[in-house]
Amino acid sequence: MLDIDKIRSDFPILNQLIHKKPLVYFDNAATNQKPQVVIDAIVDYYSNYNANIHRGVHTLSQLATNAFEEARLKVKAHMNAENSFEIIFTSGTTHGINLVASGYSQLLHIGDEVIVSEMEHHSNIVPWQMLCEKTGAILRVIPMNELGELDMDAYVKLLSDKTKMVFVNHVSNALGTINPIQFIIDQAHKIGAEVLIDGAQAAGHIKADMQALDVDYYVTSAHKLCGPTGVGVLYGKEKCLLKLPPYQGGGEMIKEVTFEKTTYADLPHKFEAGTPNICGVIAFGVALDYLNELGFDNIASYEDELLSYATEKLEAIDGLRIYGTAAQKTAVISFNVSDIHPFDIGTIIDKLGIAVRTGHHCAQPIMNFYNIPGTVRASFAFYNTKEEIDLFISALKRATMMLS
Ligand code: ALA
Repeated sequence: MLDIDKIRSDFPILNQLIHKKPLVYFDNAATNQKPQVVIDAIVDYYSNYNANIHRGVHTLSQLATNAFEEARLKVKAHMNAENSFEIIFTSGTTHGINLVASGYSQLLHIGDEVIVSEMEHHSNIVPWQMLCEKTGAILRVIPMNELGELDMDAYVKLLSDKTKMVFVNHVSNALGTINPIQFIIDQAHKIGAEVLIDGAQAAGHIKADMQALDVDYYVTSAHKLCGPTGVGVLYGKEKCLLKLPPYQGGGEMIKEVTFEKTTYADLPHKFEAGTPNICGVIAFGVALDYLNELGFDNIASYEDELLSYATEKLEAIDGLRIYGTAAQKTAVISFNVSDIHPFDIGTIIDKLGIAVRTGHHCAQPIMNFYNIPGTVRASFAFYNTKEEIDLFISALKRATMMLS
């Protein structure tokens, strides 16, 4: 059981008024808030041991390097990777996906096929389209159904000996659907294809186990795990990362440079050119400690309770339609009310202290599927409460009355 009052006191941002109303922060799918321990870790780093890593013999550099590498070990443990060198720090999920796509531009050939789903964030579509343009590979798409679930029969039919890679999100950012990634991975492996899972939206809710999933690549962002923005993780199996050419050239990623030839550093440094977000990585490690102490199972079951409570209240509103009613969902609700534009609802309820996201959520194919311009999206975190959902529902009723 989580002590929600105690948890809320760990998040200073929650205790404020917006337009003279208590802040109700329901935009957690975009980014979630940061506990005081994470904020303190950032201040501590810049106050006491800011230095570049892997470069200096001096004390501050050693302290920073140790803290950075300790964070890598925390991420390894959190994701249950076999080796710490399979954890590559990036600037976020988008960076991780582009890193892999860039490498595959040298590994794919004309006529090869790659598969995405209709439910992806643009960051898990556009890099693969660019990859196909460069290589002559063909992009195939797993369709979804009206509930917002992927059609697994259609997926299996798309797989063939031409399929080289499959890219699917663990959880849809726009609908909250939890996709059957174990099935997707197992089926792809049967025909020798590799799988990259976009875990950005699953991150704060589901603890994904790399070895149990047997996934080839898994990408995620720290800022969806109560960590800072500008930090992410690319997990890759050793054998996959070894064959993948480097993404960026620069310092740190080399073994030896001459004008005749450069040799590359071993993993993970081969993919970590330049000075990384040192402070962000260290603070990310602290965020993981915080969340693991609360327990991901506790977080998921409390968020499920919020999801059921809010779903029931929303369904009782006349003219409201929820998009994404899959059996397996995280605490994300996308909806519209009659033909009111989502932006208008978002703007009015902001004046009442409620933060939600409106628009296409960087998932235009989903909006095209439902033939809508966008939705209002409320997304909950473990520090939200049923009382906040009540405030949201009454603000929503007020807004829809004004706009009808
Ligand atoms: N991908 C983030 C969202 O869904 C930004 O809002």
